[in-house]
Amino acid sequence: MNNGVRVAAEQRYSHSADDLDHYPLGMTDRILLLNGPNLNLLGTREPEVYGSESLDDVVATLQTYATERDIELRDAQSNSEGALIDALHDARTWADGVVFNPGGYTHTSIALRDAISAIDLPVVETHLSNVHAREPFRHTSMLSAVCLGVVAGFGRDSYFLALDALKRHLS
Ligand code: DQA
Repeated sequence: MNNGVRVAAEQRYSHSADDLDHYPLGMTDRILLLNGPNLNLLGTREPEVYGSESLDDVVATLQTYATERDIELRDAQSNSEGALIDALHDARTWADGVVFNPGGYTHTSIALRDAISAIDLPVVETHLSNVHAREPFRHTSMLSAVCLGVVAGFGRDSYFLALDALKRHLS
């Protein structure tokens, strides 16, 4: 934990008009990159849909991208709904926002929706594929309504776009 950053984040929400000259620019934002079920198989899983790059490679590139933009990025992946819920709860204690690819749980999980509502952090629902151009059951998301926004269909670039959007939202 970097308490200096935490203090700066708290100040951001408490400044008055008089403080604007002292508004801390270029502040570090802390973002959780959370990936759900089957995304650990990225690179080998249906590469024609999800690309041929592994999750480790995508995350490594995202880490560099994040560092260059003053973002502290922590990443987690789980195939289990409960572990994803725990990661969202834990994010309350340190993160400013979440980039979340919930995988197949997008279309089924009321529990994840409730977790997103409960944590009161901006969450960007993120998909590699364009879910709306695929099977009808993928057209419905249980989560979108409680997310800040949705990015879908740009392959691994979806993560970069989601990160950019969240950073802009937090600025
Ligand atoms: C996905 C889309 C989901 O429908 C699917 O179940 C996934 C991946 C995507 O990134 O395109 O696992 O979230």
